[in-house]
Amino acid sequence: MLYSCLLFALTCWQPVSSNVPLRELAADRLRIGAAVEPAHLEEPEYAATLAREFNQVEPENAMKFVRVHPGPVTYNFGPADSLVAFAQSHRMAVRGHTLVWHQQLPSWLTGGRYSFVELSSILADHIYTVVKHFAGQVYAWDVVNEAFNDDGSLRSTLWSDAPGIGREGAGYIEQALRWAHAADPNALLFYNDFGAEPVNAKSDAIYRMARDFLSRGVPLDGIGLQMHLRGEPLPLDKIDENLTRLEGLGLQVQITELDVGLPVDAAGKAAPPDIARQAEIYADVVALCLKHPRCTAIQTWGFTDKYSWIPSWFPGNGSALEFDAQYQPKRAYEAMEKALRSSFHK
Ligand code: XIL
Repeated sequence: MLYSCLLFALTCWQPVSSNVPLRELAADRLRIGAAVEPAHLEEPEYAATLAREFNQVEPENAMKFVRVHPGPVTYNFGPADSLVAFAQSHRMAVRGHTLVWHQQLPSWLTGGRYSFVELSSILADHIYTVVKHFAGQVYAWDVVNEAFNDDGSLRSTLWSDAPGIGREGAGYIEQALRWAHAADPNALLFYNDFGAEPVNAKSDAIYRMARDFLSRGVPLDGIGLQMHLRGEPLPLDKIDENLTRLEGLGLQVQITELDVGLPVDAAGKAAPPDIARQAEIYADVVALCLKHPRCTAIQTWGFTDKYSWIPSWFPGNGSALEFDAQYQPKRAYEAMEKALRSSFHK
């Protein structure tokens, strides 16, 4: 009896997670990524979970303009370099994020009253310096982030406006892609945005821009869909349709910032029905990506609720990721695992 129980425990009992990490379940089909804050790598459980489960990392903040280019002639690559070193020692790919964005810009830049000629040369220098620094280490860049409004018009930003770097319309995006390509011809170049997952006015504008760029030989390899979600029903058909049309252009699609914020109590706990719904959403996103051969990465924005950006940016919400604050896998993790397993390991 004792023997058979022992045997059962060894052979048949399945713990919450089956001990096959996500990165292995995904095999060569796609990358499983997480956004990372390099300072947390000092924490053994953080580093161990990251290295075990993921084969792609992206700095959550460490490659943003304000961090890498804090003074007009000062670059600071230290924290991002430490993440790259960690990634290399754990056979992980690195995505770079992000070269051109309207947020997290240093005050020397936003308050600098530069002419468009000066701004253009500042951005060219920034892109060349950063992309060259990481050439051969960063395999894909979010070159431009969040350049469109929800209605499909171009967002007015330092880079785009009056007259920005002096290019008409989406011309500044094209120019940034060309500079990035010149700096590292081997890096894959992405345009990245939120709320453009389903077919809608914003994704229509991105699609039209991408089609125009490709028809004129502008170096664009893919579209990043951030996927910052809430527990609301996902318009799966419309997202499917968008992925199909982007793939039809020959582009890759990557899910770059997946998280699903839930209403939480003062202790940070979400209600069981929301947690169940969240797991379904994670499963649906993984299954959808796997359905599309050119969907090449699924990345979550962090991986542990301990460090998610959601509670501070959306007070009253949290519990958005696949590991809890104690690094235990949640139902969302199991859902990802199951979706990967059912696709490759039937
Ligand atoms: C967020 C980070 O998670 C926060 O730590 C930071 O304070 C603000 O930026 N879209 C993006 C990311 O492309 O860079 C943002 O990251 C989240 C929304």
